[in-house]
Order: sequence, then structure tokens, then C-alpha cells
Amino acid sequence: MELVDTGLEGLNNMLGGGVPMGSSVLVLGSYGAGKTTLGIHFAYSGLVKGERVAYFSLEERKDSILKASKQYGMDLEPFVEKSLVLMNPGALEFVEMLKMKDNFKRSIEEENVSRVIVDSISIMMMAADSDILRRNILLNLSESLRDLGVTSLLIAETEVGQPYSSREKFAEFVVDGVISLQNIYNDKNGDEVSLIRILKMRFMNHDRRARPYIISDKGIQIMAKSDVFIG
Ligand SMILES: Nc1ncnc2c1ncn2[C@@H]1O[C@H](COP(=O)(O)OP(=O)(O)OP(=O)(O)O)[C@@H](O)[C@H]1O
Ligand SMILES: [Mg+2]
Repeated sequence: MELVDTGLEGLNNMLGGGVPMGSSVLVLGSYGAGKTTLGIHFAYSGLVKGERVAYFSLEERKDSILKASKQYGMDLEPFVEKSLVLMNPGALEFVEMLKMKDNFKRSIEEENVSRVIVDSISIMMMAADSDILRRNILLNLSESLRDLGVTSLLIAETEVGQPYSSREKFAEFVVDGVISLQNIYNDKNGDEVSLIRILKMRFMNHDRRARPYIISDKGIQIMAKSDVFIG
């Protein structure tokens, strides 16, 4: 089985090498946990290997993603329109694209990308007003990605205090993997600790412990060998 480098050494170690090629991985986290940063690592890692990447940013503007990537020392700008397809569709527009499954697949196929990031599916699903519609949109997206054989990161927001499930609570079952990013705050001493945990990764004997990470001017750094004890 071929594995895909996530762009984060610590995460690759936790996974046992990387994510299986062609899989869809859900990245869960509350605001500011580092989901977009993880998306930037994943995109950059593919681009520097000469792969083509599609990044659908439904929330943050393109210039904001590019600015963040530059600050982290993973400048995406030189790749734009060469090998990085960076798009800013509105939620409704993106859902319309997905409804015409064959068109969506053809347009991704034409771009010849091997990695896709959707940031975020939570925004995407706001375009629908019932769980049945939201489920259909997600199934359409996930089937299209599977048919295309691309490796994808689907970013989803969590409610504060519920780090292990997305708001909609069904994406977890559709994807091949689930990774959670979480900030834990201690209001007694002011501490903050960030934890990454692999909740699910089909076909992989992955690390089952939560590991601490920090975000710095290099992006996310995981202390994959550190245990965390929270008293
Ligand atoms: N240069 C930096 N040095 C240290 N930390 C940084 C730096 N840049 C960003 N951060 C941290 O990363 C956080 C933003 O991360 P990111 O945008 O990846 O989060 P997110 O999970 O995508 O959030 P949202 O749900 O709001 O989109 C900031 O709130 C800040 O704590
Ligand atoms: Mg984000």
C-alpha cells in the first residue's frame, strides 16, 4: 500500500508512515486549532514533490491562505496557477459544483491533481437546510474523491468541548480517517496545551495516544514521542 506524506513528520510517525494513497481524511478541530495550517502543510508537501494540488477554501480568502503559508515558511504563492489550484467558492457555488458529479470529477481530472483539500466541509454543509441534504452533499463529495483516486483532507469544525465529532456527526463514518486537533485551556493557571489524536485510519496500525503540538513560525510541530498527562 502506497502512503502519502502529510507534510508533518510527527504525524507521519503517528500514522506509521503517512496516509494511505487515495484516502479521505477528516480533520476535526475548533476555531484556531490549526486545521488550515495542517491543510497548508499537506498542500505544500505535495507541491514540492511536483504533485498538483487543489485547495478549496470556502471561508478564508486566497490571500489570507497565501499570507499564512508565507509566514510558516511554506510559500504557496509560486505554485498558484502552475500546480496549485486555489479556489474560493461560496458554499452554495461549491454545492452546485458537487451536484453535477460528472462535471466536478471532470474538472478535477483535467487539473490532474493528486491531493485535494476542502476547508471546510462545515461551511459547505451550511448550504443545505436538512440532515438528509447535508448527508447527500457529503456522500457526493466523498464518492467523487474516491472515484478520482485523490488523497484528500476534509476539514470540519467541532463544537467547543466536543473535539471528537463534527457538528453534523456523520462525516466520521464516510471518511477513511479522522484526525482531531484540540486546544485545551486551563483557566486556573492560564496554560494552554494543544493535542493531536488519530481517531481512525483505515488499514493503519496507528498511534492511539494524544500527542502535544505547537504552532510556530514553522507551522505545526508535533512532539510525537511525548506523552501527555493531564491532571
Ligand atoms: N506565526 C505563528 N506563530 C505561532 N502561532 C501561530 C502563527 N500563526 C498562526 N498561529 C496560531 O495558529 C492559529 C490559527 O491556525 P489555523 O488558521 O490553522 O486554525 P483553524 O483551525 O483553521 O481555525 P479556524 O477554524 O478559525 O479556521 C492562530 O490562532 C494562532 O494561535
Ligand atoms: Mg481554518
